[in-house]
Amino acid sequence: MKKHAYVFDAYGTLLDIHAASQNHSGLLGENTAKVSDLWRKKQLEYTWLRSLMGVHVDFWEITKDALSYALEYFEIDHLECFDELCASYLEIPCYAEVPQLLKNLKDQGQKVAILSNGSPLMIQSAVNANNLQYFFDEILSVEDVGIFKPDRKVYSLVEEKLGVTPEKTNFFSSNAWDVAGASVFGFSVVWVNRFNQPAERLPGMPRLTVKSLEEWWEKEG
Ligand code: 2OP
Repeated sequence: MKKHAYVFDAYGTLLDIHAASQNHSGLLGENTAKVSDLWRKKQLEYTWLRSLMGVHVDFWEITKDALSYALEYFEIDHLECFDELCASYLEIPCYAEVPQLLKNLKDQGQKVAILSNGSPLMIQSAVNANNLQYFFDEILSVEDVGIFKPDRKVYSLVEEKLGVTPEKTNFFSSNAWDVAGASVFGFSVVWVNRFNQPAERLPGMPRLTVKSLEEWWEKEG
């Protein structure tokens, strides 16, 4: 029997990265969307820069550092916001179509996993907050290799832990740079282009592009 896996990026693909800021718009004010964008931008930049520098800390430390930067940039009272936004990020909601999609895959008996930059504690916390824990065979974190995506060692975790080869791994990400990295690695990649972004000018093409996981299920489920 052919062995396939359905592997999902977490932040931005399953989990709504802007919800924590949106839920605290009362504290963040008119810059809510800009704070959220800068928080995410810095979070990603710090993963890439730390990977290049060879100075790893886990994604929770990076997430807090990026938030701290974004709050200072917009001159928002740090003390008042920081802890609340951090707490929210640990319980970040999933996108609306996610529970049904995961249930559909489990009902088909598929092997389903997360492969994320997130620390094991962060991902587990978000997964539990959304009651998604029953749907995953494995939750794979970069902490097992101590470097962030798109390092090849991260994508290698799927074959190592699930025993599924890259060409039989269906990988889903909303992050175009992750799509590029995973495609170059050899996964069969679906770009969930939730934010209607242009393709990165990087090597590695997705096999398919959709706007949501629901659209993917309608096409290929
Ligand atoms: C993740 O969950 C980078 O957000 C991305 O790995």
